[in-house]
Amino acid sequence: MTNPTTLTMIRPDDWHLHLRDGEGLKAVVKDTARQFSRAIVMPNLAQPVTTVSMALAYRDRILQALQMDGKSVVEFTPLMTLYLTDNTTAQDVRDAVNCEHVYAFKLYPAGATTNSDSGVTDLFGRCAPALEAMEKLGMPLLVHGEVTDPDVDVFDREAVFIDRVMLKLRQQFPELKVVFEHLTTKNGVDYVREAPGPIAGTLTPQHLLYNRNAIFQGGLQPHWFCLPVLKREVHRQALLDAATSDSPRFFLGTDSAPHAQHLKEASCGCAGCYSALHALELYATAFEQAGRLDRLEAFASLRGPAFYGLPVNTTKVTLTRSSYTVPQTVPFGDDSLIPLAAGTTLNWTFSEG
Ligand code: NCD
Ligand code: ZN
Repeated sequence: MTNPTTLTMIRPDDWHLHLRDGEGLKAVVKDTARQFSRAIVMPNLAQPVTTVSMALAYRDRILQALQMDGKSVVEFTPLMTLYLTDNTTAQDVRDAVNCEHVYAFKLYPAGATTNSDSGVTDLFGRCAPALEAMEKLGMPLLVHGEVTDPDVDVFDREAVFIDRVMLKLRQQFPELKVVFEHLTTKNGVDYVREAPGPIAGTLTPQHLLYNRNAIFQGGLQPHWFCLPVLKREVHRQALLDAATSDSPRFFLGTDSAPHAQHLKEASCGCAGCYSALHALELYATAFEQAGRLDRLEAFASLRGPAFYGLPVNTTKVTLTRSSYTVPQTVPFGDDSLIPLAAGTTLNWTFSEG
């Protein structure tokens, strides 16, 4: 596949997405629905989604946000997740397993990132019965893999998480299905590639395309700040190698995380990059850089469904080699937001079918 001018592939899914709520949700959900058939929806709303009934109500709001004149504008399936807390019980897990719309639990270590104050403080103690039930019933655990210990350097938090938490978690619950979310280090992809048992990892467009210099290029650049934070070039190379390898364990998860412009350009700016608008264009740019456009479909459309035990989508999308300039700003309810790589020109343009 040398320099193709079009790339037609099975419609992809996004296995890690923040959709927010209210006016923000209405502004962004159509972007994801344009490119993706399904998305794993993160539960870190201001009030975390901790129960099946909360997830079902949120799902309804997502579907409503896609409706015009009472009709759905596009086919899109939100795959709901529940927020694991110290109070999650084995019964909560059984309830989730019995709900056809809930696909996973999400582990945020308390204080790790946006809206994670209700996160877990006692994973191996209070959460043990819930983890046991997940392992037994095949319910995946999606992991934000960073320690929150303030003594650990922010750039080392993923690597230290593997040593302090991930190894023990998978030793105690060897059959638990785990997704190591938004991998950012060579340590992370090496672990996921080699580890025994059911494990996979998602990769974002920003971590495949940029290293940590982007955050400091000519001054502090808040729109390149997300968590886990961008790392050194050697890590980016390792992530790109993993994504474009033939390992079934690495698949697409944008971690698109919209924040209003004024909340990122602030004295304490929010973490998160918005990529739902142009996710496939960004991923195609990264895969082309690695000379592996031929692996994009497996990464974006095949490996995720295989891990989750879901059917592959039946419709197609096309990427065309033509210049696409990322808008400087996009509307976000009463605010606006700055998308990832705003103002830069990419070589690919997305279209239907
Ligand atoms: C996410 C958000 O804003 O919700 N932010 C981010 O930088 N990725 C939270 C998260 O997934 O860490
Ligand atoms: Zn996220």
